[in-house]
Amino acid sequence: MDRAATALAADPRPGAVAGSRGAGSVDRLIGLAAADMAVVDALITDRMESPVPVIPALAEHLIAAGGKRLRPHLTVASARLCGAPAGSPNPLKLAAAVEFIHTATLLHDDVVDGSQRRRGKVAAHLIWGSASSVLVGDFLFARAFELMVETGSMRALQILARASRVIAEGEVLQLTRAHDVQLNEAVYLQIIEAKTAELFAAAAEAGAVTAGADDAQVAAMRAYGLALGLAFQLADDALDYGGSSEALGKNAGDDFREGKVTLPLLIAMERTAGREAAFWDRAVGRREQREGDFRRARELVVGSGALQATLGLAERYADDAKGALALMQPGEWRAALESLADFAVSRRA
Ligand code: IPE
Ligand code: IPE
Ligand code: MG
Ligand code: MG
Repeated sequence: MDRAATALAADPRPGAVAGSRGAGSVDRLIGLAAADMAVVDALITDRMESPVPVIPALAEHLIAAGGKRLRPHLTVASARLCGAPAGSPNPLKLAAAVEFIHTATLLHDDVVDGSQRRRGKVAAHLIWGSASSVLVGDFLFARAFELMVETGSMRALQILARASRVIAEGEVLQLTRAHDVQLNEAVYLQIIEAKTAELFAAAAEAGAVTAGADDAQVAAMRAYGLALGLAFQLADDALDYGGSSEALGKNAGDDFREGKVTLPLLIAMERTAGREAAFWDRAVGRREQREGDFRRARELVVGSGALQATLGLAERYADDAKGALALMQPGEWRAALESLADFAVSRRA
């Protein structure tokens, strides 16, 4: 999927104002998947147990806080869309594994990013320390692999093992490119594809595989997940400038404070380079941030149209995601996944 430079080159399409078209919703998907997801939640609660005291307490702190559970919903919906009967055990085990992988990456990510809030609560590393947080992340990764092995599907194992490796590559690549005011859109897209979209792709692909879907359907579900994940992370990066910490349950402005060159910042830096080069160089490049810098950056991101351009690109990926579903069986599951694609962009939390 190559859209390099598209957001920079093109202003969003006429009418592509965020929220100006179908806002999408997860309600349909949540309703359809409720019985299956109850089993997934029970598996998650069961498998976060350990006789070692800190492990369940730390895991529960994050898991009981909820989260949107988008990725396991994706695995369940993909399997059901591909013909798996309700309650079939393997898709549900893979869905739980996918959420464990996601939760593990959040524990690691909050240590790496130095983030203070997650899912409306104080970040686990601030309570138990970074070492425990990283190690419990490892525990959750291992739990995910145990669940995958139980399905007996080497293909599912291969898909999710690859995703785990690619996420780590994306996080390391992002780390090595922090504070790089020269970062371009192609590298940014490479980072978000790896750190976020790959797991969405794998969640959808693994669901299809475990339902016995044919190769074309597996590829379509993977393409859907990948485009959805890109739209989701683009919207997340827009929300870091345009959203509310209260609704997000994590602090807006974290990306800027960490020197992460996300698309809204990248476009704003490019569009205001004439006037603001010294500000960007100091606050992003040389890491010398002062009181009020985030507010100024946010004004420039919004004022230059960079926020809008980022959401415009997210909308185009959401359209790609819906397009990928064209060869799937029409019906309520497909409609729910189409609506999820719009939600990924219009969401506030
Ligand atoms: C957070 O993902 C990490 C990103 C990829 C932006 P979610 O926003 O899906 O997190 P939860 O699971 O709902 O808390
Ligand atoms: C999300 O990274 C991707 C992973 C956790 C692997 P971010 O750092 O952009 O997400 P938030 O803002 O912490 O949720
Ligand atoms: Mg983070
Ligand atoms: Mg972020």
